[in-house]
Amino acid sequence: MLILVLGKGKTGSLVAEVARERGHGVRALDITENQHASALTAPNLAGVDVVIDFTAPEAAVENMRAVLALGGRIVVGTTGWYAHLEEMRTKAQKNGALLYGTNFSIGVQKLFRLTAELARLEGYTFSIGETHHVSKLDAPSGTAITLRQIVEATQPGAKVEITSHRVGDAKGEHTVTAAGPDDVLELRHNILSRRGLALGAVRAAEWLAGKSGAYDFREIFDQM
Ligand SMILES: NC(=O)c1ccc[n+]([C@@H]2O[C@H](COP(=O)([O-])OP(=O)(O)OC[C@H]3O[C@@H](n4cnc5c(N)ncnc54)[C@H](O)[C@@H]3O)[C@@H](O)[C@H]2O)c1
Repeated sequence: MLILVLGKGKTGSLVAEVARERGHGVRALDITENQHASALTAPNLAGVDVVIDFTAPEAAVENMRAVLALGGRIVVGTTGWYAHLEEMRTKAQKNGALLYGTNFSIGVQKLFRLTAELARLEGYTFSIGETHHVSKLDAPSGTAITLRQIVEATQPGAKVEITSHRVGDAKGEHTVTAAGPDDVLELRHNILSRRGLALGAVRAAEWLAGKSGAYDFREIFDQM
């Protein structure tokens, strides 16, 4: 498979490395080569099976528009662009394919499932904590927002507070707490290495090859 990685930052560079290790051809572009999606032209995308985006919120929106307009396939790991989610899903349902996820860690996908189970508790107050590195652009994290949505889907009307911390090079920690009058339950996931995220994104790209439409990683990760 030929994969085009957008973003040579902390995550994109690992995605390229993992993709090569898994035997894929890899091209990678950073902002200087792809300002405002300028490199995403038909000739440049010819032969590319899947594009993987780990850039920044506004860049990801431009990249998705360009790739989908050309009928290409794109995996988007970038977070913070979800105000445009419906537009992108609609585009992908007409042309090309889109797979997006707030977190490509399989461990975090398990946390999502366990949170749905925890949220069934009655009489508890739920809260979410997240800690990331100081250069993260969005707060709260996309993962924390997903966790809140999961709790709210089970407990309509519940007020779920999110607390965000930005510390050093923290790779991503999320805690879901259910506090009751007599006890407290806590689910915690802590990323030790970004490799797990990169591997999840590459496996997502392998899954998306040959498909069309719009997919949330949460819905498909156990088919990979
Ligand atoms: N979904 C997940 O599992 C997951 C995991 C890690 C990070 N993220 C998200 O991925 C994004 C990137 O994270 P990071 O930590 O790698 O950031 P980073 O700042 O280390 O890297 C981003 C890179 O993208 C480049 N870039 C910006 N615009 C571009 C463009 N138009 N074309 C190509 N490259 C461009 C920047 O120059 C930079 O090198 C963030 O939104 C982050 O929240 C998601």
